[in-house]
Amino acid sequence: MPSNKRWIHERRHEAYYKRAKKDGYLSRAAYKIKQIDEKYGIFDANEVGWVLDLCSAPGSWTQYVHDKNPTIEGIIGVDLQNVRSISDRVSFMRKDIMDEDFIEMVCKATGKTAPFFSVVLSDCAQKFTGARSVDLFRQHELSLRVVDVCKHLLLPGGNCILKSFQGLPEESRELEGALKGLFGSVFKTKPDSSQKGSPEFYFICKDKKATS
Ligand SMILES: C[S@@+](CC[C@H](N)C(=O)[O-])C[C@H]1O[C@@H](n2cnc3c(N)ncnc32)[C@H](O)[C@@H]1O
Repeated sequence: MPSNKRWIHERRHEAYYKRAKKDGYLSRAAYKIKQIDEKYGIFDANEVGWVLDLCSAPGSWTQYVHDKNPTIEGIIGVDLQNVRSISDRVSFMRKDIMDEDFIEMVCKATGKTAPFFSVVLSDCAQKFTGARSVDLFRQHELSLRVVDVCKHLLLPGGNCILKSFQGLPEESRELEGALKGLFGSVFKTKPDSSQKGSPEFYFICKDKKATS
């Protein structure tokens, strides 16, 4: 069997892939946020107002957040690729989060004054070029952008989930330091649904400090 066919074959038979099909999720990534949320209580605050889902395509994290929080005010999904809206409480922006005007555009689109998000999610993944250090460095830049977005748009007391990759120890320490400066607690986790061989893991950042 050619290697790309084998990859598709293996993936189709992979447990979380099958489960996502059965549960009506757009992708298996839904179980990553579900398992993280069950362990760390990302949405446990009495009132979850607005949620920003960075790099949201195809949209399974948005689906999970929407179904979990029936009284949520709104979810804004952002991605380079288009995503179909699933509810009138979900809006989508097709945008590069690295664009200089990104934060301003989010405020304009909602007509709200920053900060106003209760939770910021980032499952961002670069389109890999195959050049490992280039890919990891670009991924690190995306992560620093998410820190910047949290600084400007996340309410004090708010939470963030941020995907990261192992491979650049110095940059990873820099990122962790920036997150610890911004949040009351920072944890690292790899949910069971994350592919075993993949270098991805997640920073769980809780309780944004009032002054940072
Ligand atoms: C792993 S997928 C996200 C899966 C999503 N959490 C879900 O549950 O469906 C990573 C996404 O990051 C997006 N992405 C990568 N770089 C981006 C950027 N600079 N701006 C916006 N989206 C980006 C990609 O287009 C891709 O859809």
